Amino acid sequence: MKKLMAANWKMYKTWDQAVDTAEGLVGLTADKLPDDREVLVFPPFTALKGVAQALSADGFSAGGQDYYIDQEGAFTGEISPMMLKDAGAAYGLTGHSERRHVLGETDEFVGQKTAYGLECGLKVVLCVGEKIDERKSGKVEEVLEHQLRVGLKDVPRDVAPDRLSIAYEPVWAIGTGEVAGPGEIVDAHTFVRKILVSVFGEKGNEMRILYGGSVKPANCGEIIALDNVDGVLVGGASLESESFSQIVLA
Ligand code: PGA
Repeated sequence: MKKLMAANWKMYKTWDQAVDTAEGLVGLTADKLPDDREVLVFPPFTALKGVAQALSADGFSAGGQDYYIDQEGAFTGEISPMMLKDAGAAYGLTGHSERRHVLGETDEFVGQKTAYGLECGLKVVLCVGEKIDERKSGKVEEVLEHQLRVGLKDVPRDVAPDRLSIAYEPVWAIGTGEVAGPGEIVDAHTFVRKILVSVFGEKGNEMRILYGGSVKPANCGEIIALDNVDGVLVGGASLESESFSQIVLA
């Protein structure tokens, strides 16, 4: 299983800035990328095509940060999996905490998007994670189990394991500089693995589980070596090619 080193650029970067960063990243990592690593960038939609072209090297791909659950139609402001693929995306992201908690997406809607993106031929990274009050009240497993069971409800049980990854991103660690401790990460990832196996059988052992939340060059090596950590999803520290390249090669 290749480790998936993913960058989420959120609502940052114009076309030129995004293409420059993507080209810089390829320049710094392509000839050193270990065989067991894969690099993925989720740029804003407006830069997707340029970034996908810049990432045409082996082992690199681009993805869309969101999509709607239809191919086309009267859905002002939305974008479809077909359009993402047309712009060069191989992946789609669902369930990011900012979409759940800032934009109000429900577990059910996240589940519909996850199944639909896969059906349309995207690979999907489904994000799950608890808020700080949920952690403090001992509800981490309850929250993760609900987000996973509803998020995966309509995903075909025979989906190829390399097409679906989970990103565990504790909401309190996103963009705060506060990274989850190794014990917290291992416990959550072990629990996610258990649910994946209960949903998909043995194949659940072959799906990647990424950690996200304040990953940086200084902590990536330790995190990526933990049990059941099969990659990272990085926001702030992925915006500069130097910093993200250190993470990719950590
Ligand atoms: P962060 O963001 O690395 O800035 O904490 C992670 C994410 O939102 O995926």
